[in-house]
Amino acid sequence: MTKVDFVIKLGGSAITKKDQPFTPNLEVIKQVSSELSQIYNHRPSLILVYGGGSFGHHVARRYISGGLITDVRGAAEVHSVMFSLTKILTDHLIRQGLPVFAINSSSSFILKEGNLQEVFYTPLELSIKRGLIPLIGGDVVFDSSSGFRILSGDRIASLLAKTFQARVLAFGTDVDGIILNGSTVPKIKVQEIEKILDHIKEKQEDVTGGMVGKLREIARYLAEGGKSAIIFNITRPGQLTRLLSDKEVLGTNFES
Ligand code: IPE
Repeated sequence: MTKVDFVIKLGGSAITKKDQPFTPNLEVIKQVSSELSQIYNHRPSLILVYGGGSFGHHVARRYISGGLITDVRGAAEVHSVMFSLTKILTDHLIRQGLPVFAINSSSSFILKEGNLQEVFYTPLELSIKRGLIPLIGGDVVFDSSSGFRILSGDRIASLLAKTFQARVLAFGTDVDGIILNGSTVPKIKVQEIEKILDHIKEKQEDVTGGMVGKLREIARYLAEGGKSAIIFNITRPGQLTRLLSDKEVLGTNFES
């Protein structure tokens, strides 16, 4: 499989206003697009992943039960609002001259009882080979046993980082990493993640587990051979540029 330099997750908390349904955070989207476009001359190979924020989560919450969506209207609605967010993102990124190419998660991933059963990597791989920037988001996907599930952008980002052997797996959020006692924890070893989880209280509105889900995903990534990952604040101007320039970033680094 082709290798990439960066897999970057644009967290829903950053690119949308999470407390306002169906509201993009245009300021952050514009800033991210502009920072990406300035660094793009250096041609880093890149996969962009994004979360559902106040688009996907807002609708999924109404239909999901025990991790499953059984109502086909629910699946249709979640998929449709994620299309809207995809359109907003691609419009802004393309306006900045970035050749992003949206790839549909529900056509790429099939689950079976919540676990990955099939992944169709070819469009992602061809996009990278041809100089496109694949853009793929958390979404509603088929579960071949029954119904539909929400596949998170975090899961997709870690899976793609592993498959395409990314040098950097970065989760852009609206916080400066893992905050304990008021300050950012700069470094966390994989074996310390469980302990950290005990200290993190989670808000309930996130159908894919918020920060807890992210930490579990990072633990899985490192356990499966990933070298490192970072959670950083993508809403702070300049941080994404630093990350893409291999400079130190304010956030929490995770290591195996
Ligand atoms: C969730 O993706 C996608 C849907 C709810 C459809 P994520 O779980 O990655 O979203 P954020 O980043 O937490 O908002």
